[in-house]
Amino acid sequence: MFQSLEAMPPDAILGLIAEYKKDHRADKIDLGVGVYMTPEGMTPVLDVVKVAERFLLETQETKTYIGTFGDIAFCDAMQTMTFGNTGDADRMTTLQGPGGSGCLRVAAGLLMRARPGATVWVSDPTWANHIPLLGGVGLELKPYPYYDTAKHVLREDAMLETLRKAPKGDVVLLHACCHNPSGLDPSEELWRKISEVVVERELVPFIDMAYQGFARDLEADAYSVHFMADKVPEMIVANSCSKNFGLYRDRVGSLSVVCESSASRDIVKSQLSNIVRTVYSVPPDHGAAIVSHVLRDEGLHKSWLVEVAAMRDRMHDMRELLASELRDKAPQHDFSHLLNATGMFCFLGVSQEQVERLKREFGIYMTSNSRINVAGITESNVTYLAESIAAVC
Ligand code: LMR
Repeated sequence: MFQSLEAMPPDAILGLIAEYKKDHRADKIDLGVGVYMTPEGMTPVLDVVKVAERFLLETQETKTYIGTFGDIAFCDAMQTMTFGNTGDADRMTTLQGPGGSGCLRVAAGLLMRARPGATVWVSDPTWANHIPLLGGVGLELKPYPYYDTAKHVLREDAMLETLRKAPKGDVVLLHACCHNPSGLDPSEELWRKISEVVVERELVPFIDMAYQGFARDLEADAYSVHFMADKVPEMIVANSCSKNFGLYRDRVGSLSVVCESSASRDIVKSQLSNIVRTVYSVPPDHGAAIVSHVLRDEGLHKSWLVEVAAMRDRMHDMRELLASELRDKAPQHDFSHLLNATGMFCFLGVSQEQVERLKREFGIYMTSNSRINVAGITESNVTYLAESIAAVC
């Protein structure tokens, strides 16, 4: 039976992990997969996570199944972190899911049940896995213009124009902050314009918030969610705790759905519960138990905000350092667009061939569209990195 199958190509992002590991050059640089790294190139376990794990070790009494929605205390804490005081809690529901991707998958299942004919409009470009993840469930996806790869600015007018033509009732996938892959987010003014189109066309906003805390701070990074929640009757938000809690492999995230009424919310809850049961039955607990403890313990919560700020500040500093080093090493090329991005990513703005040369000749790894993870930059590797980029330009 399996002889009829053809091998799949390696994943465009995760495939880089194996390639990088196999490279034995001492000066290789990893700007590929979106994980935070210290100046030593480590993706650390946060201090607050260690404290919470010790607490769980001492106090947890069972590892029996948890319900399809996970731990209600976790869900409440995530709902507050997502929506703040906006929106109407009686119309919302939040579940604990296996990472941001798992939550996106559950949301896709819900959309397929609620409106199977709807198109999901995704930014061009978007996170490489959005397309197979949502499309694999059977949803139709179409791109809306987002990033101008020549000028390195947002294609605001083209984006709004496309969304204005979307059929009523379609879904629009938006990145709450730290747009992946471009690092360029809409301004508050553009969010206002997007929300006007969303309301006018009766579109359902589906917001992916995988990097909350990595652009400005927890509250400011949820601006788009807060703003939208006050204006639309229905919306979906998928959160990831992979990045801001560093819990990548523990798989923890949340999915919130805002409904038109509390009666509709109750039906949606039963549908979500059924989707979860038929996909992964119940969510993994460990990561969510950590997050729940950190968010609900005042002292740990404060310490966590400090750790998130330290990650954010380092990424910001490394982006500035690379831009300044490039001004020096490649003065004939303009890389100033790097400074407009926020969070973990930005486009270097070089061709696929140049990306390939950086890998082959210099051991510098990034995705083929020249997206770089700025957390891979350090004070010790930035000169080599800038010189290598200058060499291929
Ligand atoms: C990324 O975009 O590199 C991260 O979100 C990791 C992943 O799963 O793709």
